[in-house]
Amino acid sequence: MKRRGERITVLTAYDWTMARLLDRAGIDVLLVGDSLGMVVLGHSTTVPVTLDMMVHHTGAVSRGARRALVVADLPFLTYQVDASETMRNAGRLVQEGGAAAVKIEGGRSVVDVTRRLSDAGVPVMGHLGLTPQSVHRIGGFRPQATSEAEAELLIEDAIALESAGAFAVVLESIPAETSGRVSAAVAIPTIGIGAGPGCDGQVLVSYDMLGLFDGPVPPFVKRYAALGEGVVDAARSFAAEVRGGRYPPATPQPAGVGGGGARKR
Ligand code: KIV
Repeated sequence: MKRRGERITVLTAYDWTMARLLDRAGIDVLLVGDSLGMVVLGHSTTVPVTLDMMVHHTGAVSRGARRALVVADLPFLTYQVDASETMRNAGRLVQEGGAAAVKIEGGRSVVDVTRRLSDAGVPVMGHLGLTPQSVHRIGGFRPQATSEAEAELLIEDAIALESAGAFAVVLESIPAETSGRVSAAVAIPTIGIGAGPGCDGQVLVSYDMLGLFDGPVPPFVKRYAALGEGVVDAARSFAAEVRGGRYPPATPQPAGVGGGGARKR
């Protein structure tokens, strides 16, 4: 797609129902992000997310995706300890979870891991810039590579990941000018989030762009829907009808209309 000049669309997904909807919409890549720790599980960072959680949610997304490529995050400290453990952990996301690829955060510190996984047949997506698993080292969720020296290091990291076999790289919260330079420096696609229009694709956390997450969202997020308000309105209507004796209706409805029978897929 990069060679053809087609922009790549990526959204996060964490469950079967959402995966089916996003796949139907023609999204190219469903990322089972460890952001699930924040938007689904209520943690304040992605650090508490475990491999078991990722395997569980990746399985649900993989079963829902027909066309989209499913990429799953290897969570914090599942690829830093040693090579054989990394391989086993990535293997679980692919074999048990059904992911087609894994994503890992970092630059030169993960080049060897990237090479080993790629050589073993596990496609790797890199992640540079704001790397949320390192939030405690970085000191908060803040823009990265804001100086020329940091921008140059980041470009070198992207080139190193590409040489090690990464098939794409996420660029998070870096200046647009830097992401344009990275995109020109590597042949693999760059997928931006808060990194401006110069990337080969864009990713957003689906709960943010759908307006489902009611906590603070990063300033670059565009809300394409207000589904959270829709849920609250629907739940209020249900409660009002049940409390007022209007639901369920006294006269039986035809089968399939609120009949509670088997769900047809
Ligand atoms: O975990 C995640 O959702 C991510 C995206 C924000 C790129 O890594």
